[in-house]
This record gives sequence, structure tokens and C-alpha cells, in this order.
Amino acid sequence: MVPSFIAIVAIVACAFSFVEANLHRKSCVVKGGQSKEIDDAPAILHAFKECGQHGRVLFEPQTYYVNSVMNVSWLKDVDIEIHGTLEWSTDIMYWLNNSMDVGYQNQSTAFIIGGDNVRINGFGTGTFNGNGDDWYKWIRQQENTSNYPDRPHALTLSRLTNSAIHGLRFLRSQMWTMSIIHSHNVVLDSIFVNNTGNSAQSSNTDGADTIYSSHVVFNNWTVYNGDDSISLKANSTDITISNCKLRNGLGIAIGSIGQYKGQFETVDRVSINNIDYENTLHAVSDPNDALKEHMLIMNIQFYVKTWTDDQNGYPPNGGGGGLGYLSGVEVTNLKATGLRGAAFAVSQCTRFSGAPGVGNCTNSQFQIKDVAIQNLSGTTKSTRVASLQCSAIAPCTNVTIANVDLHLANNTEANSYLCGNVINPMGFMCTGDVCVGGSATGEC
Ligand SMILES: *[C@@H]1O[C@H](CO)[C@@H](O)[C@H](O)[C@H]1NC(C)=O
Ligand SMILES: *[C@@H]1O[C@H](CO)[C@@H](O)[C@H](O)[C@H]1NC(C)=O
Ligand SMILES: *[C@@H]1O[C@H](CO)[C@@H](O)[C@H](O)[C@H]1NC(C)=O
Ligand SMILES: *[C@@H]1O[C@H](CO)[C@@H](O)[C@H](O)[C@H]1NC(C)=O
Ligand SMILES: *[C@@H]1O[C@H](CO)[C@@H](O)[C@H](O)[C@H]1NC(C)=O
Ligand SMILES: *[C@@H]1O[C@H](CO)[C@@H](O)[C@H](O)[C@H]1NC(C)=O
Ligand SMILES: *[C@@H]1O[C@H](CO)[C@@H](O)[C@H](O)[C@H]1NC(C)=O
Ligand SMILES: *[C@@H]1O[C@H](CO)[C@@H](O)[C@H](O)[C@H]1NC(C)=O
Ligand SMILES: *[C@@H]1O[C@H](CO)[C@@H](O)[C@H](O)[C@H]1NC(C)=O
Ligand SMILES: *[C@@H]1O[C@H](CO)[C@@H](O)[C@H](O)[C@H]1NC(C)=O
Ligand SMILES: *[C@@H]1O[C@H](CO)[C@@H](O)[C@H](O)[C@H]1NC(C)=O
Repeated sequence: MVPSFIAIVAIVACAFSFVEANLHRKSCVVKGGQSKEIDDAPAILHAFKECGQHGRVLFEPQTYYVNSVMNVSWLKDVDIEIHGTLEWSTDIMYWLNNSMDVGYQNQSTAFIIGGDNVRINGFGTGTFNGNGDDWYKWIRQQENTSNYPDRPHALTLSRLTNSAIHGLRFLRSQMWTMSIIHSHNVVLDSIFVNNTGNSAQSSNTDGADTIYSSHVVFNNWTVYNGDDSISLKANSTDITISNCKLRNGLGIAIGSIGQYKGQFETVDRVSINNIDYENTLHAVSDPNDALKEHMLIMNIQFYVKTWTDDQNGYPPNGGGGGLGYLSGVEVTNLKATGLRGAAFAVSQCTRFSGAPGVGNCTNSQFQIKDVAIQNLSGTTKSTRVASLQCSAIAPCTNVTIANVDLHLANNTEANSYLCGNVINPMGFMCTGDVCVGGSATGEC
């Protein structure tokens, strides 16, 4: 809708209306075809081309049908206002043929947004609907249910700088909801993600993944999914995650990392504060299926997964042999209800279902250091507070876990801290040896 203070000076074609704001800010209202048969991507791209620099792009309260890829990488000083829903088509063969390269892990995407000074507002109602139910059914019939070549992410923020996204909703993303790559100074506030499948259990529907990015703020996210709620991957630095509600998924993940042989990657300066975590198991999944998958087996509040020093296959499903470190992580004020695994888990022996063998689980050259977790309370189904399977070559150092108050259903305290290659633990004592074996979720 066009606010009344904007004088409409021209209506151009049928694809979108073109209006001139009084402050010389050009506005485009995207006109949808109002039918699944009509691909609205050309109209959307047209609006971005006309008004994507020093202008405004408005989506009305209606459904826009997106049947083809969109690469909008040239935005500059633009307000994007989304009052309606963008709904992606489910022509799986089309998307596998046409999804675009993200630039890491052979990952692909349906929609790229990039540029400088981009302000997107969904006002709490603007929605990206990935229509993932068809994808979730389809992927379960494939050999690799975690990563499948060219299965697209819903949205990729690529080379986006000095930008903000507020109040947007994401429903049933095709795969990961949001990949954020080569992006800096980005605030993502009040984002709601629900990737719970209606008819099949979703798989590999991370809330967000950061890669080669810095100064990214995730504030007030609500994520319902079955995989990483938010995941920080290669060269993610100065990341803040605050005031979030994470439901059913695996929690906040660092990694997987160390997947590329000989490459030096880091995750540095991460602040995680005030996270509310709850497992309300939804009924769609068959528990026996879940055990075969690497997802939904356990719920973890915070975990780190790195590859070993042995390379087995190639990304995204295989890899290893990477270098680097994780450091400067401050985690405070976590509240849990019904955790299903260790609150804090480290595995340096990542493997995915369908991937080749793991190799040696304690020879990773990727080091974990300077991690402090404080103020963790709530209920858990696991007696483990921590499961730290660190590398013998580059042991975990300066790890603090303090002020933990986690209780089992019978009200006894969860008090087991399992360690392998942890030097000078602080705030806790190791109570036993950790298991050593391949994992995608942090424990064995
Ligand atoms: C996908 O690509 C293949 C091979 O190029 C082609 O035969 C097929 O028609 C394409 N399918 C769609 C839906 O675009
Ligand atoms: C997206 O568009 C930009 C600018 O046109 C181009 O440089 C980039 O290669 C495109 N990305 C993909 C994955 O096609
Ligand atoms: C993509 O996969 C191929 C082989 O499957 C591998 O050689 C290549 O390194 C991968 N690229 C990235 C960027 O992960
Ligand atoms: C947080 O995000 C939710 C949407 O998930 C929204 O309803 C709520 O108003 C936001 N809270 C604040 C304080 O902005
Ligand atoms: C998430 O989606 C599922 C499946 O449609 C639905 O049952 C559930 O109510 C949704 N949760 C929220 C909080 O909207
Ligand atoms: C990742 O960060 C490391 C350490 O700063 C740097 O050496 C490496 O070049 C970076 N990799 C990429 C692909 O930017
Ligand atoms: C499944 O993953 C394995 C390990 O990366 C790979 O060798 C195989 O080619 C993949 N299969 C498909 C269909 O992608
Ligand atoms: C794995 O590597 C570590 C470090 O090099 C070594 O101490 C250990 O013996 C190796 N384990 C096996 C089973 O080879
Ligand atoms: C230990 O790690 C914490 C948390 O990152 C950091 O603040 C502190 O400076 C580190 N201490 C040393 C001696 O490195
Ligand atoms: C931990 O909780 C206590 C009591 O609620 C509070 O005083 C303290 O500031 C918290 N610590 C951190 C690091 O937030
Ligand atoms: C409480 O439950 C845990 C886990 O099931 C069990 O190991 C423990 O013995 C129980 N404690 C009591 C006092 O019943």
C-alpha cells in the first residue's frame, strides 16, 4: 500500500506502479499476478531495478508467487517494505537445475540479496514461505538427506553491508533459511522461523548460517526447526546472538568447520546472551526415522563441531583437514526446558549421514580456546552438562562452565562433565572420559 503522503505521479506498465516520494525517494509497488501460474519474479526484479537504489520497494498485503531464481545483488540505500507473502514454487526439478551458487560448501540458493545500506521491514507479518513440505518429502527419498546438490536455501545475504532486517517471518524453508556470506554490519531483528513440516519431518533447515561475515547481530529470533537454530561457520567474527527463543532444533552451533583441507578458518568473538530453549516434540516425525537421521536425535543448547585432520570426501557431505581456531566465545544466561543432550557439546569428529568414514577423531588441527559459559539453568533429560571431545593435537584450553543449575525430571542435578583433551577446565571438574567417535550433532 502507498502511504497517503506520497504523491503518485505515474503508473508504469502492469508489472508495478511507480511513484515519486516527496523526499525525491522513488517508490515501486510490486504488482503480483495473483496466481500460482504467473511467476512474479520478473515483476519483483523489475521493481528492484527501478527503485533498488536510493528508493523504496513495497510488497502489498497479498501473496506473490516466486517461480524462478532472483539475484538482487546491487541494492543501495533502499527501504524494502514487505506487507505480504512471497511464496516459492515447488517445481523441484526447476530449482535443482537453476539454484545459484552461495560460494561455500557447494551450497545453493533461490534468492540472493546484496548491497549496501539495505533496510528490510516485514512489520511482523511480511513472510517468505519456502513451501518446504514438498522438499521435506522428496529429500527423505534420497541417499543424502542432509545435503543434496543444488537444493536451495530460502535466502542468501551475499556481500550485504550496513543493513538491517526487521520483523520478517520465514515458513518452511526449502533447506537452510538464511545463509549470510561476505556480509558485514548486519542487524537481523525480530525474525520468526517455523520450519516444522506439515506432512514430513524437515531436514537440514537451519535458521541461519554465517560464513566469511562479521559484525552480525541476531536479536529476538524465534526458531522452530529440527537442525541448527543458528550456526556460525568459517570466518564468522564479532557475532552477537541475543534474546532468542529456540525450539526443537539443535541449538546454537559453531561449525561445522575445518572441512577444507589446509584452509585456515576462524570463529572469533561471539557473544551469546539470554537464550530460551525448549523442546516441544512435534508429532510429525517417526522416532525410528529420527534415529536414522542425524537430526532431531538430541537437543543441545550450544555445540561445536569440527572435522578431523583426515580428509574423507568433499564438501558439503565430506571433508576434513582444515586449520584454524574458535575463540572468544561468551555465553550467558541460557534457560532450558527439556534438553535432550549435553548442554554444551564439542565434537572434533564431524560426519554426516551418507558420508565416507570419519578417520581419526582426535587429530583435528582446529583449536577451541577461550570459551566461557555462565548461568545456565532449567530442565534436562540428559545427565550430561558437557561432552567435550577435543583434539589431542590442539586441545581445548581456557574453557569455563560456571553457574549451572540443570535438573532432571526427578529433580536430581545434572552433573556429568565428560572430557577428552581439555586443559585446565575452569568452573567445573571433569567427571569422566568422553566417548570418541564420529558425530554430526556434537556427542557420539
Ligand atoms: C533440467 O535440466 C535437464 C538437463 O539439462 C533438462 O533435461 C530438464 O528439462 C530440466 N528440467 C527443468 C524442469 O527445467
Ligand atoms: C549475482 O549477480 C551479480 C551481479 O550481477 C553477479 O556478480 C553474481 O555472480 C551473481 N551471482 C550468482 C550466484 O549468479
Ligand atoms: C564442490 O564439490 C566438489 C566435488 O564434489 C569439490 O571438488 C569442490 O571442492 C567442492 N567445492 C566447494 C566450494 O566446496
Ligand atoms: C520479537 O519478535 C516477535 C516475532 O517473532 C515479535 O512478535 C515481538 O514483538 C518482538 N519483540 C520485541 C521486543 O521486539
Ligand atoms: C509451526 O508450523 C507447524 C506446522 O504448520 C504448526 O503446527 C505450528 O503451530 C507452527 N508453530 C507456530 C509457533 O506457529
Ligand atoms: C579466513 O580467515 C583467516 C584468518 O583471518 C584468513 O587467513 C583467511 O584468508 C580467511 N579466508 C577467507 C576465504 O576469507
Ligand atoms: C552422497 O554423499 C556422498 C558423500 O559425500 C557422496 O559420495 C555421494 O555422491 C552423494 N550422493 C548424492 C546422490 O549426492
Ligand atoms: C589419532 O591421532 C592422535 C593424535 O595424532 C594420536 O595420538 C592417536 O593415537 C590417533 N588414534 C588412532 C586410533 O590412530
Ligand atoms: C579465557 O577466555 C575468556 C573468554 O573468552 C577470555 O575473556 C579470557 O581473556 C581468556 N583468558 C586467557 C588467559 O586467555
Ligand atoms: C548470572 O546470574 C546472576 C544472578 O542471576 C547475575 O547476577 C549475573 O550477572 C549473571 N552473570 C552474567 C555473566 O550474566
Ligand atoms: C534421577 O534420574 C536419573 C536419570 O534417569 C537417574 O540416573 C538417577 O538415579 C535418578 N535419581 C534418583 C534419586 O532417583
